[in-house]
Amino acid sequence: MEQRFAAQSIQQTTDVFHTRWQAPSNIALIKYWGKKAPQIPLNASLSFTLSNAITQTEVRFLPLKTPTKTVTFSIRFEGEEKPEFRPKLEGFFTQILPYQPFLIHYQIDITSQNTFPHSSGIASSASSMAALAACLVDFEAQLSSISAEDRLSKISFLARLGSGSASRSVQGPMMAWGKHNALATSADEWAIPVTDIHPLFTDFCDTILLIDKGQKQVSSTLGHKLMHKHSYAAQRFEQANAHLTEVLPILRSGDLDGFIPIVEKEALHLHAMMMTSDPYFILMKPNTLQVIECIWAYRKSTGVPVCFTLDAGANVHVLYPKAVAKEVGVFINSELLPFCENRQCVHDYVGTGIKKY
Ligand code: DP6
Repeated sequence: MEQRFAAQSIQQTTDVFHTRWQAPSNIALIKYWGKKAPQIPLNASLSFTLSNAITQTEVRFLPLKTPTKTVTFSIRFEGEEKPEFRPKLEGFFTQILPYQPFLIHYQIDITSQNTFPHSSGIASSASSMAALAACLVDFEAQLSSISAEDRLSKISFLARLGSGSASRSVQGPMMAWGKHNALATSADEWAIPVTDIHPLFTDFCDTILLIDKGQKQVSSTLGHKLMHKHSYAAQRFEQANAHLTEVLPILRSGDLDGFIPIVEKEALHLHAMMMTSDPYFILMKPNTLQVIECIWAYRKSTGVPVCFTLDAGANVHVLYPKAVAKEVGVFINSELLPFCENRQCVHDYVGTGIKKY
C-alpha cells in the first residue's frame, strides 16, 4: 500500500456534494507497453497533454444511511445508462477503496461525456479516468485536509489505478510516469509534470487522423499482458528508458531534428512489439502506412518538421510546431485526409490538464 495516499482522518458529511471536472486525453511520445501488478509500468513513459480531446464528468455524492461493502454507483455516459462500463468501474473502485474508504458511505452518481466524436477510435480511458479521479479527490478534499500538490499527485495516483496512461492526463504540458533516473521526482505510482521544456513544445500541434473508427481487435489490456512472455520485452523496456534519457535534453533545447526520430521510432517499436507478440497482431491499417509514407515524403521534399506517432490503434497523430501549422494544414487537407474515414480528423494541441468546469 502506497503510504503517501493512505486514507487520512475523514470528517464525514450528511450533505449532498456535487462536483464537475474535465480532463484531456494525452499522446505518449515514449510509450508505456507492459505492466505488473498493481498497475506498475515496466518502463517510464512521457506524453504531451492534449487540449481538445476531453472528457467532462459530473459526480454527485449522496450520503447513505448505512455503509455498503463495495462502492455503490451509477454511470450515465452521453445521456444513457451504460451497464457495459460497470465492470471496469467496479474494478477501479475496488482498487481505490483502500485509499478512499469513505466512499462506501455514499451513493456515487457519475454522468460523463466526451467532446471528441463518439467511437472515433480515440482512446477515452485516459481522459475519463483522470476526470473521475479529479472529482473523487475534490470530494476527499472537502472531508479532510490535503495539500494542493498532494491533491494533483493523488488524482494521478487514483487515475493510474483505472488506466495507466490516465495518470499522465492531470497536468501539462508534458507528464512522465514511471521511475526514471533522469527525472529525480519520478514515480511508478503517479505521473509528474515535465515543465522545463522549450517553448516550441508547449504549443505543439497534434492532428489526429481518424483512419479507422471501428472497435480495436486487441485491447491495450491484452497487449500489455502479452509483454510478459515477449521475447524482446527486456530490450524494449531498456530501450524506452534510453529514449526518455535521450529526449529530455532535446525537449529542453528545442532540437526538432533530434525529436523527430525518437518519436517515430517509439511509435514503430510499439507496433513492432504487437507484431512480434505470441499471439501476434497488427493494429495498423493499409492507410496508416500510406499516411506515414506521405509524411516522410513531405518532410523530405519541404524540410517542414512534421512527424507522426501512433497509439494502440490505426489512427495517426501528426505532430508539428505551431509555427508551421498553416502549411501543414494545407498538406493534411490535400494529402492525408483522403486516407481518413469520411475525411475526419481532430485538431488538437498541447494543453494544461484537468480543470473544474
Ligand atoms: C499504447 O493506459 O490504455 O497508448 O493501463 O491497461 O488501461 P491500461 O492501458 P492504457 O495503455 C496505453 C498504451 C499506449 C501507450 C501510452 O499511452 O503510453
